[in-house]
Amino acid sequence: MQNFKLPAILFILFAAGTLDANAQSNNNIPQLIRTNGIIQFYVGGKPFLILGGELGNSTASNIDYMRPVWPKLKSMHLNTVLAPVYWELLEPLEGKFDFTLVDSLIAGARKQRLKLILLWFGSWKNSMSCYAPEWIKLNQQKFERAKNSKGNGLEILSAFNKTNLNADIDAFAALMKHIAKIDSVENTVVMIQVENEIGMLTEAREYTSAANQAFNQKVPGELMNYLKKNKHELVPEFLTLWQKNGFLTTGTWEEIFGKGLSTDEIFQAWQYAVYTNAVAAAGKKEYNIPMYVNAALNYRNVNPGQYPSAGPLPHLMDVWQAGAPSIDILSPDFYNPYFRQYSDLYIRRNNPFFIPEIRSEPDNAAKVFLAVGHYKGIGFSPFSIESVNAPLEEPVAKSYALLQQLAPVILESQVKGKIVGVLLDSAFQKQEFTMGNYRLTVSHEYTLGWSPGSRDPGWPESGGLIIQTGNNEFIIAGTGIVVTFSSTNANQTVGILRADEGEYKNDQWKPGRRMNGDQDHQGRHIRIPVREFSIQRVSVYDYQ
Ligand code: DGJ
Repeated sequence: MQNFKLPAILFILFAAGTLDANAQSNNNIPQLIRTNGIIQFYVGGKPFLILGGELGNSTASNIDYMRPVWPKLKSMHLNTVLAPVYWELLEPLEGKFDFTLVDSLIAGARKQRLKLILLWFGSWKNSMSCYAPEWIKLNQQKFERAKNSKGNGLEILSAFNKTNLNADIDAFAALMKHIAKIDSVENTVVMIQVENEIGMLTEAREYTSAANQAFNQKVPGELMNYLKKNKHELVPEFLTLWQKNGFLTTGTWEEIFGKGLSTDEIFQAWQYAVYTNAVAAAGKKEYNIPMYVNAALNYRNVNPGQYPSAGPLPHLMDVWQAGAPSIDILSPDFYNPYFRQYSDLYIRRNNPFFIPEIRSEPDNAAKVFLAVGHYKGIGFSPFSIESVNAPLEEPVAKSYALLQQLAPVILESQVKGKIVGVLLDSAFQKQEFTMGNYRLTVSHEYTLGWSPGSRDPGWPESGGLIIQTGNNEFIIAGTGIVVTFSSTNANQTVGILRADEGEYKNDQWKPGRRMNGDQDHQGRHIRIPVREFSIQRVSVYDYQ
């Protein structure tokens, strides 16, 4: 959010309006840096593309269980593992910390030369408080639970309770202090997720007496000031709610936003944001690396309370940005079929684009190209990544193998605006765009009609990246795509001068097969068949 660091030199260039595309961080600590309006994730002073995978919830709770998982992850071309840190195992007795699991995660990752994103399963995990330590769960007098409108306690810690917050802060700060102590030089841990899928159930807000009291008070000045300052940039779903009662700038929650479930949700979201921000800020004080929150998306169109409400959801982005300036990214977890729709929502409000969870499915192999190429994402991470039987056959691992080679050129072309990502299926069969003097059409391979798979009853998603590396030079990478070229000059026709399949080894291009016969249809198009994954470097030329 507002928390990006611009290195001094960048700031000067930015102010002068000539931001340097090749800007380098002057600080090795992991951080988010904006260049040419594109926010990238830097590790070790260089942009870093997260080719991630999140472990199933229980996998990292046992060192022996984890042991065979590490090489599997490495073989899938991941560079980053997202792994939980469980509050109940970190602080089994109040004030007594056990870092054994954290140390073992860091050691395991280092051995495989992997990076880690640690997920703080603290006060909330998928709305609930299942990972709160027993000494919290068993002492409800001290650690108050959320209550529903009937006054019944829920298995959810109250966000309005200072004792809960302080306990979470103490544990999280201890974790970050420990990481700073053992990892601030090596930077194996590169980012932190604070809590997990925060969201109120089964009503839109809490009804503890502290919550009820706060509900009847004025909307805090911090939120009102943010709304006033950002009035013309607020997400439209939220602006409408504020507009309804005439953009009031002071009053209770119901006076400003009206009576109803949406207002209950906004109220709860503010509290969640402020609470999570306090946790994140306390952690950053010990060790300042990027921190994000993730959202369980509401895609079924049900009312607040029936979905995990008040989390960092698209319509609440402004509330979260206002309440949680120490949180750097609001991230979507994808367990729904509306990939484009929700990705479009999460690139608003200067939010860096990061997908920390997506259901493990073969189509992820194609979606990752759209995330990185089109949305300029900083990373991608299928959930329960370790639970595959044949890691080398996993489609997303094959895409990662390409992305791993291309990462430096992808990151460079993101900030130069020279990259396009596509995602295609039977409903969205082709995409056209202009790069320099050329018009490119990228089509699903099955549109050829004569390709071996095109009579398949279902079309797998296909996708890829097109990177322009010179006036008439392109890198084309992906799976299941066909690319044709034409000229922006109507008098010119475009031919394929040369197409080489190949690999980048240590950032050096090693050409493999020359593809100028059947493989490029005698110079008519570039083709990567469905279920094949490759990189081709292509030169085109004009003729009349
Ligand atoms: C999303 C959660 O964030 C994960 O921890 C896990 O519970 C998955 N859902 C399960 O599908």
